[in-house]
Amino acid sequence: MDLPIFTTPSELGHYLQSHRSQAIGFVPTMGALHLGHQSLIDRARHENTLAVVSIFVNPLQFGANEDLDQYPRQLEIDRVICETAGVDALFVPTPESMGINNTLTQIIPPPLMLSGLCGRTRVGHFQGVATIVTKLLNIVQPDRAYFGEKDSQQLAIIRRIVTDLNIPVDIVGCPTLRAASGLAHSSRNQYLSPTGKSQAAVIYRSLQQARAVANSGEVHAPSILAAVMTELATVPEFELEYLELVDRHSLQSLDTVENSALLAIAGRIENTRLIDNIIIEPHRLNYDLE
Ligand code: PAF
Repeated sequence: MDLPIFTTPSELGHYLQSHRSQAIGFVPTMGALHLGHQSLIDRARHENTLAVVSIFVNPLQFGANEDLDQYPRQLEIDRVICETAGVDALFVPTPESMGINNTLTQIIPPPLMLSGLCGRTRVGHFQGVATIVTKLLNIVQPDRAYFGEKDSQQLAIIRRIVTDLNIPVDIVGCPTLRAASGLAHSSRNQYLSPTGKSQAAVIYRSLQQARAVANSGEVHAPSILAAVMTELATVPEFELEYLELVDRHSLQSLDTVENSALLAIAGRIENTRLIDNIIIEPHRLNYDLE
């Protein structure tokens, strides 16, 4: 059967009304689907009886100088990917049907979660994400919603919003999928040349250096961060935007790592902004060896 596509919240709502007895898994996306999205879809299918994917390039989360107009749009390819992956319903709303205008009610995440990482430079971005994700969760009302751990600040903020606003959904974080080089899959990778892609592999390589240092028992942030910087220096084309070691839930900066911490990085290769992160657990290796 052809994959049904719905373009307004009311059309989708009508379809879902007759499927409410099923466990609904929801994967919100902005399209340009890659292997990372496919892993979210596979998990949503596996853990639920109905899988819904949305594709909406959300204008609210792009700043004035960002790539809203250039953001890759490939609806027909995405539709085929969803159909092949066994998605049950595709939601592709128009900005009008999502009520996008200057007077839209906005969801403002806790300011402390916005002061670092991507929030520092992408002013308004997470407010736009929070607003659209809240709307999508209210429209779809899924049992579970799936988000990539690559967008670690987004994931922490969405978890917090769902808790604070008592939205009845399980937020499932899914591991980052990587190319053989270690480069995290991202819709923006398609802006990179082959050289750029191989240079961008330094991002994950540098995070792994930090993990190795932490695994050897180092708990002090400056030493862990220094390991990343040493490896980054091997690829001068990489323009670092930030490198931070933070609590993975509150996103507050850490001087030392007690149990686990989020090590997050952003920067540019060939003027394409890339982000990545890993969880650092200095005592984990010792613990595993006990
Ligand atoms: O991660 C994304 O693709 C977007 O930020 C999301 C969650 C679909 C909201 O527009």
